[in-house]
Amino acid sequence: MHQAVLAIDQGTTNSKAALITADGAILGTGSHPVRISHPRPGWVEQDAEDVWQSTLNAITTCLHTTAPGGAGGGGVEIVGIALSTQRESVVGWDRSGRPVGPVLGWQDVRTSSWCAQLPAAVDELVRRRTGLRVDAMFSAPKMRWLLDRSDAYVGTVDSWLIHRLTGRREHLTEAGNASRTLLYDLTTLDWSAELLDAFGVPRSALAEVRPSDAGFGSTKDVPGLPDGIPIVAVLADSHAAMYGQGCTRTGMVKATYGTGSSVMTPVAEFVPSGCTLAWQTDRPVYALEGNIVSSGAALAWTADLLGLPDVGALMELAATVAAAEGVVLVPAFAGLGAPHWDREARAALTGMSSSTTRAHLARAAVDAVAHQICDITDTIPGGLSTLRADGGATISDLLMQTQADLLGRPVQAADVPEISALGAAELAWSTLGATTGWSKTRTYRRFEPHLTPEARTDRRAGWSAAVTTTRTA
Ligand code: G3P
Repeated sequence: MHQAVLAIDQGTTNSKAALITADGAILGTGSHPVRISHPRPGWVEQDAEDVWQSTLNAITTCLHTTAPGGAGGGGVEIVGIALSTQRESVVGWDRSGRPVGPVLGWQDVRTSSWCAQLPAAVDELVRRRTGLRVDAMFSAPKMRWLLDRSDAYVGTVDSWLIHRLTGRREHLTEAGNASRTLLYDLTTLDWSAELLDAFGVPRSALAEVRPSDAGFGSTKDVPGLPDGIPIVAVLADSHAAMYGQGCTRTGMVKATYGTGSSVMTPVAEFVPSGCTLAWQTDRPVYALEGNIVSSGAALAWTADLLGLPDVGALMELAATVAAAEGVVLVPAFAGLGAPHWDREARAALTGMSSSTTRAHLARAAVDAVAHQICDITDTIPGGLSTLRADGGATISDLLMQTQADLLGRPVQAADVPEISALGAAELAWSTLGATTGWSKTRTYRRFEPHLTPEARTDRRAGWSAAVTTTRTA
């Protein structure tokens, strides 16, 4: 009989589950897509019941592959649950646990104009207390929007899943997830009364915040799982990836390539600009972070535009040409995130000529993902020595090589797609008393930069010029 932590990674496009042993071995996995809809330009919605159901489906598949005779063999005892979740997206539910309204996804910018009319003093307060800036991506304006329509509990996806996993008994959230709401004061590690007031969110609508490893209740009435399994650890997905990558020291930088991208590096203490709470255990660990709104989403959009079945086919097409030959895609479909922060900007495709082919467009999409990461790493004081990469798109050697070329630095791509699940599971196991440190023995695919400095400068300048054409501010 194996002992395992059931790690759940609930992301924007998929819910995943994995059974992970104390030495980091993965006994079985399951994955299920989550629906996403765009009812109006700039609106990005999910369905809270679908998010929950896809999580259950992922767990069911995972347990099935690990049943006797499956990947794990011999049966598994689940000793705890570790949760990693998409951040910033907001769920509202009533006192009986029924969702009210849609899940407002983190990419949703319906509150942009509401945010723009907030006094400058609120932005200043947000920066000082949370390390972030007022932007429609974060949770507080989305909570305000839902509360304007219904008297509800509101929470990030971690609190929604904890509520359901515990048989609707608990209303809890994890500190790193709370740090993405614009309401959590990183200087006191508590909801900020001033910010609750500024955004009109009553404390009674919010979950109780707990440190990442503090325990979040136990399972009750979850189909396929016994009652009483403790939820040991919770991390926000991007933070879980940083934990799983072993980026625990200043100077280490990781990039997660998901629907959007997140570049993070730990810092010694809270700084009131671009800062976030990565996790809180015996002490808070802060990180500088830059968020990119559209990266995997840009690849998917381009694949769709070109009539290709998926991103894999897009990568194959892109690899048929050596370069985009001056074509640049700026995927500002929902505006630009870090470091530009212009949510009114809109996407552009520039530099085409009569010899431009579909392959050049595909290649431009790959370049766009890498350029956006460089825009953020260029702002890291002292630069970086190596970039640790994770997330679905890192499976592409072409993307990883392009990233190394445009960075002018080596890139190490994690050898496992389940890095967020592994990060959350590692924290859970260490909370349960196991000796972990799996990231030290992890193997990576390493990509060395091949572009000459001149060619790199040229490509970066072409990108920057195209970004400038999309800017509104
Ligand atoms: O900040 C949003 C991020 O947490 C979403 O991650 O992997 O679902 O794109 P992902």
